[in-house]
Order: sequence, then C-alpha cells, then structure tokens
Amino acid sequence: MLTQTHAKARGLADLPPVTSDSLLTLIALCDADPRNNKIDVGVGVFRDGAGNTPILKVIKEAEQRLVDTQITKAYLGSAGDKRFAELLRPILLGHHASDDRITGLQTPGGCGALRLGFELIATANPGARVLVGTPTWPNHPPIIRSVRLQQIDYPYYERGQGIIRFEDMIAALNDAEAGDVALLHGCCHNPTGADLSEDQWREVVRIVSERGLIPLIDIAYQGFGRGLDEDAFGVRLMLDACDEVVIAQSCDKSFSVYRDRVGSLFVKTGSKEATATAMAHVHQRAREMWSMPPDHGAAAVHIVLEDPELRARWLVELAEMRDRINSVRQRIAAADPRLAYIGRQFGMFSMLPLSKEQVLKLREDEAIYMAESGRFNVVGLSDDQLDRFTAAVVGALGA
Ligand SMILES: Cc1ncc(COP(=O)(O)O)c(C=O)c1O
Repeated sequence: MLTQTHAKARGLADLPPVTSDSLLTLIALCDADPRNNKIDVGVGVFRDGAGNTPILKVIKEAEQRLVDTQITKAYLGSAGDKRFAELLRPILLGHHASDDRITGLQTPGGCGALRLGFELIATANPGARVLVGTPTWPNHPPIIRSVRLQQIDYPYYERGQGIIRFEDMIAALNDAEAGDVALLHGCCHNPTGADLSEDQWREVVRIVSERGLIPLIDIAYQGFGRGLDEDAFGVRLMLDACDEVVIAQSCDKSFSVYRDRVGSLFVKTGSKEATATAMAHVHQRAREMWSMPPDHGAAAVHIVLEDPELRARWLVELAEMRDRINSVRQRIAAADPRLAYIGRQFGMFSMLPLSKEQVLKLREDEAIYMAESGRFNVVGLSDDQLDRFTAAVVGALGA
C-alpha cells in the first residue's frame, strides 16, 4: 500500500524563465534594427576596415589541403588532435614548452577549456573559492557556477579613469586561502582592455605563489595586444614561479575560426605523475561533457602551424589584425582627451565612461549598439564609421 503521495511530477513546461546572455540579446536587437547606418560595436569579433570578418588566407589554404588529403573522419578520442596541442606549446608556453609536468589537450574553444579547467579544480577541491576581478567577461560567472564553486568578486577596474584598481586586486589576493583560485586574463582584458603591466604581473605572481593559490589564466587573445610572446608574459612568469597552473587558451580569435571552436587546456602540477593523474580526470570530464572536441578548425590550425611557409604567413595576418586594433585605438584616443586611455589599452575591448541611459540613448538616436556597461569592440567599427562613432560618443560625454 502506498503511504506517501508524490508531489505532482514536474514537466518541461514548469521550467523557470532564463535571463538570456546580455550580449546575445544585444546582437538580436542590432540585427532587428532596420536603420542602414547602424554601428555594431557589441559583438566580439575582429572586423577589417571594410567591416568584414574574413577567413584568414592561411586558414582557407589549410582547409583546402584538408579536403584534398583527409582520408578518414574516424574518432580521435577525448584529447582531440594531439599534434595540435603539441604545436601550440612553444607559442603559449615559450621556454616552458619542454616541461614534462605540463600537458595540454584540445578543447571546444576557450569556453570548453575554461569549463574543463574549472571542472578539474572543483574535482580536486570543491571548497575552492574563485577570485574574480570585476568587471569580467560575462560568461565567466556562469561557468564558475556550473561547477558549483564559490565566486569572490573584487574590483579590478576604475571606469572613470580607465585604470586598474591594483591595490584592491592585491588586497583580495592577499586575503585568499591556499587552494583558492585566481582567475586571471592573460592579455587583452575583456571587457576593459586594461592589462597588467609587467611589474604588476610580477607582484601578482609573487602573491599567488606565496599564498599557494591556483592561477587559472584565460588567454583568448594572444597576439592581439603587443605580440605573441609579449601577450604570454604573464602565463610564462606564472609558470616560472608556480607548480600548479591551469591555462585555458583559445585560437578562435588569433586564427579567426570563431565558429569552428578551437581551443586548448594546459595543466601544470608539481610532477609528471601528478599531471598524468590530473589529465586522467580532465579526460573523464571531457568524455562526460562533449566526448571529443570538433576536429575541423583544429585540423586547419594544425596544418598552418606545421607548415613553415603557412606559419610565417599566419604571423603576418595576425600582425595585420593587431595593427588594425592598435591603430583604431589611437584614432579613438586622439578624438578627445577623455578617451586618451583607450590608446594605452590592448585588445578588442574597452569601456566608455557612459551611463546605461547614455548607452541606450546612443542606441535610440544614433543606431550605435554597445553593451549597457559601455563596453565596446574597437574594431567593430569600419573605417567609414569611426568619425561618426567618436563624434557621437564625445557628444554623449558632454562639454
Ligand atoms: C575572455 C574570454 N575568454 C574566453 C573566451 C572564449 O572564447 P571561445 O570563443 O574560444 O570559446 C572569450 C570569447 O569571447 C573571451 O572573451
């Protein structure tokens, strides 16, 4: 006999609503705007002076070779393309490339790498807290939540002045306990564009290492700031000082293969054996989540990096993207002294000192689409949009 009545079974129709990702909402709003003079500086992709996001010539060529020569699409396993991860080592790790305590695997983009890195940390220490400088990339908090780790925010950026609140950052790191995680942007900070200086990296690395924190470095824009080696300065300094480091890397921007989802996760522990055990957990988690990463984009990157001629041409195309980012920054910075800080920052993003109301008014009056926080993509602007954009922003800032 049943002694208990069960509560009514909940069906899919009982699901609560979801607050959608603000950046995805912004893309949809911009798409729906019929005005033909609209300016979209919301979405985070590189655009050339004509406003396009072209496929790199070296990637087109590599894809053709792939079509011509690939003879099977049999499974590769949870590590994906192992040679792809090998080829990335010198680019990302520099003088640490031959350290056998560091192992990497291919992931579905930087997002996949972040999720997997946090999964690994949560498996090792479910009580770890994650220190996050705010503002940060809006997908960081949901990924941290998804592995049920506690997030501790500290202020990273002073928006009015365009500078890092370094003392607050140091105070937060000094308050953390051994085993806590410091989530750090390797370069081209998203959304602020404000990167740590080399001296600031030295200080951060010293505290992280002395306090036994685990650094998780998210590096999604290597090569978009100062150069491949310069942009990896923090990653390599951290590896110099710390036994345990987790690096979530993305090729999606630097090879312009966004939708193909190309990234990697690198893990360092104090010994080759401990890294092997950590990677066994990583593979297990990957198997549960996506089984194995998509091959196409990583296979194209693999072909580019393996071939000296294609590799040299990729470096040229990467430098062209970087030069455009930096020259647009200089042009915006020159428009008004209040925008000068933009010329001292790196990567695709910066934040304008505008209120939400001012951002919405620019959207309404000028068809300029940026995040409500004032974050905008500097190379979202085509050459012919730049002057209208800066004039509108300077107008919004007032006299
Ligand atoms: C800071 C940061 N990390 C990670 C990513 C994820 O990149 P991917 O598209 O490779 O998943 C992005 C993408 O916008 C990003 O801005």
